[in-house]
Amino acid sequence: MSEIAKKRNVENYEESTDKRSSESVLLKNNQEHLSKRQRVEGIDNNPYLAHRQITKSPLDGWFPGRTTAEQARIAEDGDINPFTNKPFSKRYRELLKARRTLPVHAQRKEFLDLVHESQFVVFVGETGSGKTTQIPQFLCYDILPHLKKKQIACTQPRRVAAMSVAQRVADEMDFKLGEEVGYNIRFEDCSGPKTMLKNRYY
Ligand SMILES: Nc1ncnc2c1ncn2[C@@H]1O[C@H](COP(=O)(O)OP(=O)(O)OP(=O)(O)O)[C@@H](O)[C@H]1O
Ligand SMILES: [Mg+2]
Repeated sequence: MSEIAKKRNVENYEESTDKRSSESVLLKNNQEHLSKRQRVEGIDNNPYLAHRQITKSPLDGWFPGRTTAEQARIAEDGDINPFTNKPFSKRYRELLKARRTLPVHAQRKEFLDLVHESQFVVFVGETGSGKTTQIPQFLCYDILPHLKKKQIACTQPRRVAAMSVAQRVADEMDFKLGEEVGYNIRFEDCSGPKTMLKNRYY
């Protein structure tokens, strides 16, 4: 083999090694967010393993009854609805912006601290401050009732109130009424197996 051909061979070898090592660095970086099992099995890249895809939830690592106001705020501001794992809608974001101006949101931490250390809490607030619509949502993010098939029950003084509050809360949490949030009035049960928050009037 001539000297020139030998040199070209060495250059080609070095080039391909460089390329391979930069590809493996890229692959490693791309897979950093995956668990060891996902990396080994290549679930993300393998269409035959799509049914075993692990969905990351914004609630991963949370403990029921120990949510902080900051954690809840971050989850509410996220892209994915942690209860349905679907992207939040534009309307949800508009409503969230308005909700954050309600007085109860300024006291979310205080409220959660009280709930965590007490068996009963009597919460008094001005009319329109957000007791009926916001407090049940604070509890949903704290208790995570969907994980253990629990339900938060809210009593209402009128049939119409039970229906309209349920609709409002469903809209604010980006749910379809009758699924995660529902109501129960005499002769009508608008809820289902996924219902975790129910407004009731008897
Ligand atoms: N269906 C709705 N459509 C639009 N805004 C609503 C609706 N329901 C409640 N709101 C608004 O949300 C805010 C909080 O209402 P919420 O009923 O939670 O207050 P509240 O503290 O329970 O009041 P009250 O002491 O009168 O029961 C209020 O400003 C209210 O105007
Ligand atoms: Mg009220």
